[in-house]
Amino acid sequence: NNYCVILAGGKGRRLWPCSRSSHPKQFIDFFGVGRTQLQQTFDRMAKIVPADHIYINTNEEYVDLVKEQLPEVSADRIMAEPIHRNTAPSMAWANHRISMLNPDACIINTPSDQAIFNEEAFRKNVLEGLAFVAANDRFLTMAVKPTRPEPGYGYIQMGDVVEEDIYAVQSFTEKPERDFAKIFVESGEFYWNTGIFLSNVKHLRECFCKILPPVLREYDKKYPEFSIETENAYMKETFSSYPNISVDFGVLDKPSNACMMKCDFGWADLGTWHSIYEAMQKSEDDNVVIDSDVFIEDCHNTVVKMPKGKLAVLNGLDGFIVAEKDNVLLVCKKEDSSALIRKYVNEIQMK
Ligand code: GDD
Ligand code: MG
Repeated sequence: NNYCVILAGGKGRRLWPCSRSSHPKQFIDFFGVGRTQLQQTFDRMAKIVPADHIYINTNEEYVDLVKEQLPEVSADRIMAEPIHRNTAPSMAWANHRISMLNPDACIINTPSDQAIFNEEAFRKNVLEGLAFVAANDRFLTMAVKPTRPEPGYGYIQMGDVVEEDIYAVQSFTEKPERDFAKIFVESGEFYWNTGIFLSNVKHLRECFCKILPPVLREYDKKYPEFSIETENAYMKETFSSYPNISVDFGVLDKPSNACMMKCDFGWADLGTWHSIYEAMQKSEDDNVVIDSDVFIEDCHNTVVKMPKGKLAVLNGLDGFIVAEKDNVLLVCKKEDSSALIRKYVNEIQMK
């Protein structure tokens, strides 16, 4: 009864210029390990649920990339969103589809931009979580202990204990200001939201029916006659009426009977230059060189990613990102780089 939905429709702009909205981070073998982030997520999940229970939710722009990278996923399990509406509508669609196939299903939703260092511990937590949501109408998010006041994540305040390692969500704050993040971390009451969510499909349907327009109910009526083509055509017609909202805001932030599982499986977000720098092994001078040829001297706290066959010679940098891909070179202070990169990408309007 267990299914998995991999969210792979983000534009990955915070890792520009190595991740472009025409070829975002989840489709890149960023660390030169031979598998892209999407493929690694699929491999990890295929050890937990049957491979033919894994769905990939993405934008229609990326369907060919998904097909190329995961030929084992049949076309009906690639859900192609006609426009970007963030993760709540995407997850709602997948959840509705799976609930029509199997009303007793439990699903695990996972982003495709993360590293899990202890896969055995992860598998154990997910299986415990699936057993919990099979027995309880509650939305369960995997949470990890924060190690720094990172403003780029969601913070969950632990409430009452529900059962071993599972707590009610007392409050949820998505991407707080740095000062608040600092208070949250110091209090010891807050955990990072990994964005990995579990629920039974019935409960999640109810949550989504509350926050999304009633098109989902109409979808149920039409579902028996759908082919892949007519379902996609129907979504094309209706998807723009869905609010642009992330599942964190939509479900976790609302009284949806949410709870969190305290996890310790070695988790890192790989969505920004800063988070990648934090997650990676550092050199003696605290630099991180990712799959690149570099001659580096008198540099500190610097992250470098160069294309194959290109040598970077760096001297005297402290706290920088040096990243090149195709026709763009970025040299930028690492601190608060996500906001700067967003601004530049918008100004340059480069895909
Ligand atoms: N299908 C689909 N459609 N996927 C999407 C869309 C969309 O419109 N937008 C984003 N995604 C995918 C991304 O590709 C990524 O794998 C995942 O959904 C999460 O989106 P991000 O944009 O990376 O979210 P975030 O990193 O800012 O925040 C989330 O993750 C943090 C941990 O990494 C939140 O859940 C935070 O609360 C959390 O701490
Ligand atoms: Mg992310």
